[in-house]
Amino acid sequence: MSTFKYGGACEPGAAVVNLHGQVLVDGAFLECGFTQFTAHGIARKNDRYIIVSRLRETMSLSSFIPGVTASSIDGELLWGFWYPALRSDDLHGRALITSKRLDVPLVLGRDAAGKAFALRDICPHRAYPLSAGTCDGKTVECIYHGWRFDAHTGQCTEVPSITADSKLQCDRIYAGSFPCEERDGYVWVYFANPEGRATRLADGKPDRSDVPPAPELPKFSDRYRITHLTADLTCNMDTGITGLMDPAHGPFVHASWYWRSRRSIREKHKTFEPIPLGFRMSSHTPSANSGPYKLLRYYGDAITTQIDFVLPNMRTEIVRCGEKWFTNRTTVTPIGRDRCRLDFVAAWNLFPWLPVTTLLHVFGKRFIGQDQDVIERQQPGLKIQPRMMLIDDADRQARWYFQLKATYLASQQTGAPLVHPMDGPVTLKWRS
Ligand code: FES
Ligand SMILES: [Fe+2]
Repeated sequence: MSTFKYGGACEPGAAVVNLHGQVLVDGAFLECGFTQFTAHGIARKNDRYIIVSRLRETMSLSSFIPGVTASSIDGELLWGFWYPALRSDDLHGRALITSKRLDVPLVLGRDAAGKAFALRDICPHRAYPLSAGTCDGKTVECIYHGWRFDAHTGQCTEVPSITADSKLQCDRIYAGSFPCEERDGYVWVYFANPEGRATRLADGKPDRSDVPPAPELPKFSDRYRITHLTADLTCNMDTGITGLMDPAHGPFVHASWYWRSRRSIREKHKTFEPIPLGFRMSSHTPSANSGPYKLLRYYGDAITTQIDFVLPNMRTEIVRCGEKWFTNRTTVTPIGRDRCRLDFVAAWNLFPWLPVTTLLHVFGKRFIGQDQDVIERQQPGLKIQPRMMLIDDADRQARWYFQLKATYLASQQTGAPLVHPMDGPVTLKWRS
């Protein structure tokens, strides 16, 4: 059975499979413009290819394909990024705390100096959960047979059952381990791969030279306040993320006196520009029909807002008004394939006399709850009809997201350069 890979030529009779080894058939690529592919046959069990051979053409394809927008990369997880795994407050003392992200079971804790660490919660010996064991501030002990692992590198430091003349080199055994950093009240974990594998330096320490810095919310003054909101979404990451960048649902799902109403729907023109691994709604004066921005008029300075989306899952908004600023970031992180964690963090230096934290919690919770509700109700339908229509400019951002995701997956597999779906700035028009 022949298969073809990213960038390969399309041969009739090739097996087309996605990263899970699922066979993709006719039209499975329509969302990305792969209209001419026909796949036949059954892939071998371990074939793990995604086709993006027509990606380049796809990227310049601006025409809408009527009615069909299935995606071959729906729900595909993205490796090689930082994801928030826990709130910093969840980690205290020597406690071992579990978390699951990208279907990877994690055990997190702090070393004696308070630095957070993240290991795969599976003992390499017999798969016992390390989280059932203990941490002495330097190593984590598995309580099944007492093996110990360095909390930061996963390197095995002790196997109690071996005798003095044993040939076993226990320092060659590793538990999966993930780079771990704290920013903005979150414990971020870098997922290079599901196993927590790393290339090793001569001393056995993981080589983390290519790990980028963990994301951080922009702040524009030394003094500020910060708050967090969180919610679980019963959907895959793509549904969660495209919901995040969907401008058309606002007046319907979030209709309210303080946000906007159906009657306030008007035509919007927004300029977007490409940024690395994402796109930016260029800095502009916020819509006159968005309630919270009206409050900022109090300061009398010009108000601007800029919204970035970058892979894998991050929407960051920066609102500025003279010396005053308000920034926020939403991430939708897959817990598994059909469950996500939405994390929202906001920081600001405005209205110090107002209970902004309380207001954000009351209104933010309601707002996120409305999205949760929509997603929940979508699920039975999506099971029967997984294809989503992406129409016109209102859904252009969702299309860019899928295209960015496709090109990222392609470049990860083949090392091919990333192809950005945007050539330059573009103005999108919709009514909301
Ligand atoms: S399973 Fe962990 S030490 Fe044996
Ligand atoms: Fe929403």
